[in-house]
Amino acid sequence: MNHANKVIATTLATITLTGLCTTTAIEASGHGNNNAQHNVNTSNQQNGNSSQAHGNQKKIHNLTGEKFATIAHRGASGYAPEHTFFSYDKSHNAIGASYIEIDLQMTKDGHLVAMHDETVDRTTNGTGRVDQYTLKELKKLDAGSKFNSQNPQYANSNYKGAKVPTLDEILNRYGTDANYYIETKSPDVYPGMEEKLLNTLDKHQLLNNNSLKNGHVLVQSFSEESLLKMQKLNPAVPLIRLLDKGELTSMTQLNFNQIRQYAIGVGPEYTDLTKQNVKNLKKADLLVHPFTVNEPTDMKRLNEYGVDGVFTNYPDVYKQIISENEQQHKHK
Ligand code: G3P
Ligand code: CA
Repeated sequence: MNHANKVIATTLATITLTGLCTTTAIEASGHGNNNAQHNVNTSNQQNGNSSQAHGNQKKIHNLTGEKFATIAHRGASGYAPEHTFFSYDKSHNAIGASYIEIDLQMTKDGHLVAMHDETVDRTTNGTGRVDQYTLKELKKLDAGSKFNSQNPQYANSNYKGAKVPTLDEILNRYGTDANYYIETKSPDVYPGMEEKLLNTLDKHQLLNNNSLKNGHVLVQSFSEESLLKMQKLNPAVPLIRLLDKGELTSMTQLNFNQIRQYAIGVGPEYTDLTKQNVKNLKKADLLVHPFTVNEPTDMKRLNEYGVDGVFTNYPDVYKQIISENEQQHKHK
């Protein structure tokens, strides 16, 4: 789905208004906006209490404090069935990625579940739309066997019968030991998704100051509407605006500044990135987390452009590149 058409019109109409309102509120209260708050958190986290001021502009950093964030796309989904505990365990326990990336869909009876597609066909032995399944019905599906047949080199008999996890189950399993990069998928199909997400995060102590400060949660979406709703419901939750292929390249510096009114970063499709547009995004004080980067040469090139991390199906590969880069810098 291409979201480019929506971008400019919605951004100009809605964000400019939001921006004006925010500015007025800042002027009236004498306090910074939420993004400024995120800035302070990130700078403080990496540098004690010293702010990373460059002229009047503060420089944003990953909330985890890392120079490069390793975002395990649907878990370590290159090695194990996507959005199952197998791919999440591999990413978090075995590889130690910075974030578990989670796409959210909602069942017929209102449970948030981790699944990329609106239908179950590609990843399970079932057919049909997720929103036509109750959780009990969804739990009967096998979300592991297709991976085995499609990836014989990584096939594992344990994957057979893997269950589709709920968000609640994921947060129970990894708790505040992990960081979550959560996407509101198809929010137009699932009214109330944002409220449910916040309630679930809150239940797992992921919305308290400590969790937010330590970067345990980022919420991402291609839908500006969904992100603005999140901001309205809880302005403390850091947000990332995803940009489909072609979207970034049609944007101006003004668009970047407008995104910065509600989000701390962007997730562009990686082939859209150039050294120059990464520089422009950084100038707008946005984090840059491109998706989905699986080739080492692309990882290295994007790091050189100055991105803050990548979404990847192979988090171990990216971590290795980060580590090699650190070693090289040590020996210079
Ligand atoms: O969320 C970043 C990236 O995952 C977006 O692409 O389609 O894999 O969710 P998609
Ligand atoms: Ca995603």
